[in-house]
Amino acid sequence: MDIVVLDGFTLNPGDLSWAELQQLGTCRIYDRTPAEKVIERAKDAEILIINKIIISEREIDQLPKLQYIGLCSTGYNVVDTEAAANKKIAVTNVPAYSTNSVAQLVFAHILNLCQHVSEHSESVKRGDWAKAPDFCYWNFPLIELDSLTLGIIGMGQIGQAVARIARQFGMKILYHDLRALSDIDKDYRSIDLDTIFRESDVVTLHCPLTPETRQLVNTKRLSLMKSSAFLINTSRGQLIDEKALAESLDRGKIAGAGLDVLATEPPGPDNPLLTAKNCYITPHIAWATRAARQRLMDVVVNNLRCFLDGKPINLVR
Ligand SMILES: NC(=O)c1ccc[n+]([C@@H]2O[C@H](COP(=O)([O-])OP(=O)(O)OC[C@H]3O[C@@H](n4cnc5c(N)ncnc54)[C@H](O)[C@@H]3O)[C@@H](O)[C@H]2O)c1
Repeated sequence: MDIVVLDGFTLNPGDLSWAELQQLGTCRIYDRTPAEKVIERAKDAEILIINKIIISEREIDQLPKLQYIGLCSTGYNVVDTEAAANKKIAVTNVPAYSTNSVAQLVFAHILNLCQHVSEHSESVKRGDWAKAPDFCYWNFPLIELDSLTLGIIGMGQIGQAVARIARQFGMKILYHDLRALSDIDKDYRSIDLDTIFRESDVVTLHCPLTPETRQLVNTKRLSLMKSSAFLINTSRGQLIDEKALAESLDRGKIAGAGLDVLATEPPGPDNPLLTAKNCYITPHIAWATRAARQRLMDVVVNNLRCFLDGKPINLVR
């Protein structure tokens, strides 16, 4: 089998092993592939492993040997799955490998907004504590989560993992989901979107990006939020009207934001959120703990092994 990995670097920047994949065929592994080199590198591939490379009908038409596309991600919007199906090319994804890692980063952002550990530490290192008149000082309001309300939009795998952690902090849970969820904790309250924005002290986004959820956070919804509230987004950047959020933060209409995703990644230098007040941004790292990437690698290999054995799993479409 001729296996080509087109953009392997973010999954395995060197701390994991490709050995198990290499046992399944002849492997060529590229860290990154610019769009104009996709066909040249993949033209002999029977198996393609990709993360964020776009495989549209145009590429599929020019890859006659291709039998299988293995995605190193849960989302599969980078592949034209209909064009793949028309050519009988199997497409697989990796569900739920990073749930706990994403939930953990949600709380890293929430706790950062509540206590600013890094900024206080930097202040101490600059000598501010040594010069302080009292035994303690703080540069930001300090916030206890106990009895505050967390609003979760999208109560799937990650939303529910976040809710479980929030309960341990004594938070009350509101949620909104499109599906009727039967097996959900009876203390979690299902409610409409606007009420979530109005009543929550922290709103966290865990729904997928769809035509309905694009810019779900807009000027109107931000205006419903408490001025003390925080917004967390580890889902997809396009869920937020970024200009509206930057304005809300700069005018103090909401108190802070913790974002792991932006509408364009990497962002342009003019993205208004890069300079917005009390806005903390991590570079799309929620999925990327070593444990989650190892799970991802294991499932990518197992998906391919099952396909080669004639019993495919995790097929999308
Ligand atoms: N930052 C990262 O590294 C990272 C990693 C993994 C996943 N993600 C993002 O997290 C999202 C959630 O992942 P998950 O594993 O929990 O997915 P999931 O499919 O288990 O849950 C998504 C939930 O959103 C609900 N939903 C769909 N449309 C909705 C709408 N219009 N309004 C409200 N709810 C809606 C679904 O019914 C489902 O319950 C993914 O779509 C992905 O964009 C980000």
